[in-house]
Amino acid sequence: MRYLTFALGKGRLANSALDLFSKVGITCDEMREGNSRKLIFENEDQKLRFFLAKSPDVPTYVEYGAADIGIVGRDTILEEGRNIYEVLDLGFGSCRMCVCGPASAADLLTHHEQIRVATKYPRIAKDYFYNEKYQTVEIIKLNGSVELGTMVGLADLIVDIVETGSTLAQNGLTVLEEILPLSARMVVNPVSMKLEQDRISKLTADLRRVISPKEE
Ligand code: PRP
Repeated sequence: MRYLTFALGKGRLANSALDLFSKVGITCDEMREGNSRKLIFENEDQKLRFFLAKSPDVPTYVEYGAADIGIVGRDTILEEGRNIYEVLDLGFGSCRMCVCGPASAADLLTHHEQIRVATKYPRIAKDYFYNEKYQTVEIIKLNGSVELGTMVGLADLIVDIVETGSTLAQNGLTVLEEILPLSARMVVNPVSMKLEQDRISKLTADLRRVISPKEE
């Protein structure tokens, strides 16, 4: 039996994914040992291999078949636009992609004037403004702490992930419009889907059974 390889997005999602996997008998305890610099972990008995990658790289590994399966947020899947199958909503990592800014900027969304929008997600932001709001925007790509974009005068608004809302609240910003609900998803390489159909279908069915129905 060949190894089935999983790429997990680093951070909160990876730990939740390991918790979920353990409920269906898939374990990789070695991966939870936080201090290690090791990159690939194997469960030899189950012929499973896991690695952690930066989230935006997970769809890349899966598209090229370097990983059969990926665990990553819907935001990253949409932003990366890779040729992969999204097979399961894992029910954790729930948050929203939103247009945010100071409450006083709400007006900018009601006229069709050109505005500047800072975001880590240029594709999602462009799609929303051009195809849903028919508003011309100048997108400025940032790589983190996107809230700063509006606070220091770089942009009029931001498009960013809102989970608890506390980052916005602590910086005097608010949600102005909601773009999309988000959560962690399981993605599969199209060729692996055929070659490993039995194992992947069983895994998907097992996971479906343990995913909390109210979160799914
Ligand atoms: C994300 C997101 C917001 C924050 C939202 O940033 O970009 O800044 O979390 O969470 P909240 O609504 O619970 O406050 P992340 O922590 O991933 O880091 P980043 O700012 O460097 O992207």
